[in-house]
Amino acid sequence: MRVTATAEFMLEPILEPNKDAGSSRDAIGLGQASGTGLDTRHGTILTLEDISVSFDGFKALNNLNLYIGVGELRCIIGPNGAGKTTLMDVITGKTRPSHGKAWFGETLDLSAMSEVQIAQAGIGRKFQKPTVFEALSVFENLELAQKTDKSVWASLRARLSGEQQDAIAEVLETIRLTTAVNRPAGLLSHGQKQFLEIGMLLVQDPQLLLLDEPVAGMTDAETEFTAELFKSLAGKHSLMVVEHDMGFVGAIADHVTVLHQGSVLAEGSLEQVQENERVIEVYLGR
Ligand SMILES: Nc1ncnc2c1ncn2[C@@H]1O[C@H](COP(=O)(O)OP(=O)(O)OP(=O)(O)O)[C@@H](O)[C@H]1O
Ligand SMILES: [Mg+2]
Repeated sequence: MRVTATAEFMLEPILEPNKDAGSSRDAIGLGQASGTGLDTRHGTILTLEDISVSFDGFKALNNLNLYIGVGELRCIIGPNGAGKTTLMDVITGKTRPSHGKAWFGETLDLSAMSEVQIAQAGIGRKFQKPTVFEALSVFENLELAQKTDKSVWASLRARLSGEQQDAIAEVLETIRLTTAVNRPAGLLSHGQKQFLEIGMLLVQDPQLLLLDEPVAGMTDAETEFTAELFKSLAGKHSLMVVEHDMGFVGAIADHVTVLHQGSVLAEGSLEQVQENERVIEVYLGR
């Protein structure tokens, strides 16, 4: 195993298309020219229009419209049952909308893609409960995560292996687990497991990261570090963060969407939505 600290690792230029995403799309036959990356020419990475999801007649999402800009850090808030997790299920292909359009970039129709294709195209998701492999080391968890989508790279693997090692080393620094690289993941604290899982997404270099209640159960210090981490990821990645912790939302968000009964109730800065009478009534004023 070769892990070196890469303090001088150069970040990719902000908003550069993800090379993997372009290649994966070619591999799954979505008709993109080779190496073009995700088409975000209008600056929007995610477009949801008129999305509805029904469970036995109950509308978990109801004509929802949502647009996420490239490099944006968007917070989604709203009461229990508002449809926040269902929204992530729709974006990742886990739940199919009964109505509406979902686009990743300008040209990728998420409704026509499988969950695997969506992940390969560059949408990564973190669930609330950490799902790391407890018996494997921190490094092995990252290594496994990095390999999942790489059949398309098979012929290049030998050449990329140095790069992949560097990418893992960089992610270890980012999630502050460099000194725990050989520790079994099962021995990490709850917060560290959450950071490892975020690292497992980052080694796949997703363009859009979906994070459902990332700071639930974290200590104050871990929550503070998560805020710093997300702010540093924005720009290079686009992030959609669902969270009930208003202190955390206030620390990271420049743009907040309030969901209520499956629709967008309000959108704007946290200050703007906090002053909205309807938002106070259904959520914040509880
Ligand atoms: N598979 C399902 N079958 C039936 N109803 C569902 C299903 N998934 C979600 N629902 C319902 O849809 C509504 C929205 O649920 P969702 O989990 O998206 O809410 P949420 O905003 O994430 O809430 P929370 O803040 O509690 O996590 C809820 O009323 C929920 O009971
Ligand atoms: Mg939820």
